[in-house]
Amino acid sequence: MADMRVLVTGGAGYIGAHTLVAMLAAGQRPLVLDNFSNGSAEAVRRVERLCSASIPLIEGDIRQPGVVQAVLAQAAAGGDPVRAVLHLAGCKAVGESVADPLKYYDNNVAGSLALLHAMRETGVARLVFSSSATVYGEPQSLPFTEAHPLAPANPYGRTKLMVEQMLRDLCAAQAGFGAVTLRYFNPIGAHPSGQIGESPRDVPNNLFPFITQVAVGRRPFLNVFGDDYATADGTGVRDYLHVMDLAQGHVQALDYALAHPGFVAVNLGTGQGTSVLELVQAFERVNQCRIPLRTQPRRPGDIERMWADPALAASLLGWRSRRGVDAMCADGWRWQQGNPRGYETDPPAA
Ligand code: WQD
Repeated sequence: MADMRVLVTGGAGYIGAHTLVAMLAAGQRPLVLDNFSNGSAEAVRRVERLCSASIPLIEGDIRQPGVVQAVLAQAAAGGDPVRAVLHLAGCKAVGESVADPLKYYDNNVAGSLALLHAMRETGVARLVFSSSATVYGEPQSLPFTEAHPLAPANPYGRTKLMVEQMLRDLCAAQAGFGAVTLRYFNPIGAHPSGQIGESPRDVPNNLFPFITQVAVGRRPFLNVFGDDYATADGTGVRDYLHVMDLAQGHVQALDYALAHPGFVAVNLGTGQGTSVLELVQAFERVNQCRIPLRTQPRRPGDIERMWADPALAASLLGWRSRRGVDAMCADGWRWQQGNPRGYETDPPAA
């Protein structure tokens, strides 16, 4: 819905920055709250330049008492109340969640609880939540539909499921509260301008940013975690989704949330599976480069294959993915090639 003021928690991150672009294009008016633990003010500034727009950006942590209340109250006092919250703030590295689970329960669960209290105190009753296909765990059947049993196999996935359950219970208890939970598959790539993209702080956990860092010369080779899976080429299969398609999904979920109270969970994926080697080969073909590989043992906890059934997103939100793997590879490379160190400006330590 055009002209809707939306609070975007974590809006300075990878998904957040791309979603800001899609929101502005739809006439929605984002207001960003971010603690910059994994995001960058530079990303928001670049979105402003890209879209010739002004985006209020507030540094703050949703867990700090009074922070969200103050942001929502100030917007209302200024005659421009927040109509909905897009909740992206959270930690998202599976391996880190195993090593440091309390960080994930604190950020993802306690943080979401603090946000929901602030929303109730200020009368904001519509939310879109960034969840993950990790809530499904090992596939009992594929493609994953939203009715698949929920059995996350790591603390990160368990925090996402806990927040989904909080939202489901809150919608049942508080008439008029609406929550749309988006279960992301594997978002990759970047805005076609090359101005914004994924900028991991440390060694990338995920496949695609590792590929682009190898391509730009920051890493000597890509480790392939397992080539003995029961897949066509032995490597893991995932449903890679262009981050701009994911961003558009948030816009349509916000419109839906504003018009519908109650809880709903929706997959955001393409419905297509792509293996590690297939993604590498597409990247090499599209970008005319070579990615040296080293085969390693399987990564503990990895699922062999997974992809989405995106039918509910189409029927409920009117959303479907529109960009293919080649566009993900071309757009992701354009960003990395133009920004070898992501948003970091200071040169690497000698
Ligand atoms: C994809 C495939 C790896 C790195 C995780 C989270 C998920 C979401 C996305 C937040 C697997 C293989 C990877 C590498 C490799 N995060 N791989 N070499 O594990 O599907 O999903 O990130 O929402 O919730 O669970 O993504 O990119 O880490 O792995 O071979 O250096 O690439 O084994 O088969 P994953 P991924």
